[in-house]
Amino acid sequence: SIVDPQLKTGYHFQPIKNWINGNANLPNLLSALVELELAAPLYYKGWYHFFYQYNPKGAVWGNIVWAHSVSRDLINWHALETALEPSIPSDQYGCWSGSATILPDGTPVIMYTGVASPNNYQVQNIAYPKNASDPLLREWVKPSHINPIIVPEGGINATQFRDPTTAWRAAGDGHWRLLIGSVAPTGGTRGGTRGVAYVYRSRDFRRWTRVRRPLHSAPATGMWECPDFYPVSKDGRRVGLETSVMGTRVKHVLKNSLDLRRYDYYTVGVYDRRVERYVPDDPAGDEGESRRMRYDYGNFYASKTFYDPAKRRRILWGWANESDTAADDVAKGWAGIQAIPRTVWLDPSGKQLLQWPIEEVEALRRKSVTLKDRVIKPGQHLEVTGIQTAQADVEVSFEVSSLKGAEPLDPALASDAERLCGAKGADVEGGVGPFGLWVLASANREERTAVFFRVFRAAAGSDKPLMVLMCTDPTKSSLNPDLYRPTFAGFVDTDISDGKISLRSLIDRSVVESFGAGGKTCILSRVYPSLAIGKNARLYVFNNGKAEIKVSRLTAWEMKKPLMNGA
Ligand code: FRU
Repeated sequence: SIVDPQLKTGYHFQPIKNWINGNANLPNLLSALVELELAAPLYYKGWYHFFYQYNPKGAVWGNIVWAHSVSRDLINWHALETALEPSIPSDQYGCWSGSATILPDGTPVIMYTGVASPNNYQVQNIAYPKNASDPLLREWVKPSHINPIIVPEGGINATQFRDPTTAWRAAGDGHWRLLIGSVAPTGGTRGGTRGVAYVYRSRDFRRWTRVRRPLHSAPATGMWECPDFYPVSKDGRRVGLETSVMGTRVKHVLKNSLDLRRYDYYTVGVYDRRVERYVPDDPAGDEGESRRMRYDYGNFYASKTFYDPAKRRRILWGWANESDTAADDVAKGWAGIQAIPRTVWLDPSGKQLLQWPIEEVEALRRKSVTLKDRVIKPGQHLEVTGIQTAQADVEVSFEVSSLKGAEPLDPALASDAERLCGAKGADVEGGVGPFGLWVLASANREERTAVFFRVFRAAAGSDKPLMVLMCTDPTKSSLNPDLYRPTFAGFVDTDISDGKISLRSLIDRSVVESFGAGGKTCILSRVYPSLAIGKNARLYVFNNGKAEIKVSRLTAWEMKKPLMNGA
């Protein structure tokens, strides 16, 4: 059944029990490996801190506090005592999302949303470590003479005003800036649906003034939860940038979590700090759903990034909700996990981001099997045997024998990957593909989750002759009828003219987290098999297209369970 303890994830972050992350969530990240000129003990001790929205009393959203875990490698976690809980008038109805910033003297400071009234009046509060020399930052204080530090004024919608970002500082004037997510006030023609990120500025991190015009806004996107704003290097290398870096070698990324749709979308663009405006390079990226780029086309929300000076990378971390019923969550006693942290950087095209699981996850790899140059004929499949695959990491390189038979792309579906995959699932024969993996499959394959590609011939006149679709199809993932099983999909902006494409899947009992074409398109899905559990979970490569496929190389590793908050 769904409450089978073997469905509890093994190496994805989660607390021992209860609800993690808001009615959605939110990870509040801080690397204590700060870039300090004054090398405080924090720097040597090298702890990563993770704060998250948590319900200490149950497996549904409510009673929200900031729980706190620490790690040296972002994989093995130790739970600490609660960092923030309601204790002052301006957070008495909840300590909601926020972010940490490292001040120039090396002290971390947290700004977070406090709910100050039963009808959801939202303000921003600030908290400091009680003892900044404690590398574990166990205790936090909220000075009562300065909180709340920012209140909704000037017509701002006071019930939709939350989730301050990490602050950045411009070298020119030394002022701090941060963003707060909101939605345009009601009234006016588009009232109430235009998503907004307000900029606040401060000299001293205490007195904050709003810049009149928002950094950015977009029509019909609704409340922007958990905004994130950061620089990426234009040179296409993986190296990450500290949040305050600006200049001509840099582009900026703005991410918003759409409360209306429950996904994280981002644009790449230019930040002009003199006027405090951000302009996306491709304005279409803010338009209807099918034009928006997502970090992940599956179950992935309220993510945040942070700069990790220890390895000079930017790390993206998102939350994945359950897709069972709330009653199941109560019976299981837990709900919500974190994705595997991902290194994120700008694709050499400058148009999109690339994402890849942090290298530390590879330390969990144990026994492996490798296949080479195995041909999969149309309608055939191949089982990968010799290891257990309920908790595994799989990397595959495919080679398509010929692209000639690629099926034409129905123009009505051309802009909607999700509908396209819904219409052409893993069992619908195609020209080139569907081909990919069946993961968490039962012995007779009556249960299986398909992660696959399908290649289409684009309509005449489009800029690329071939379009690659990546999907996760969970419609056969479980014999249990009471599950939400959405098909997830995104296009992969890759050149497949040489026939080659790669796939990596991190399989973890009830999670399948996949990376297409080296991290161009990512899809996380939650599934709850009833048979393909523990030792009974199997792994296959399948080909339901008319073109032959070659697995040039496949390696699958069993994954060890790390320390997980005491579990
Ligand atoms: C994101 C979110 C935030 C809010 C928090 C409440 O999912 O809704 O906007 O601060 O969760 O737990």
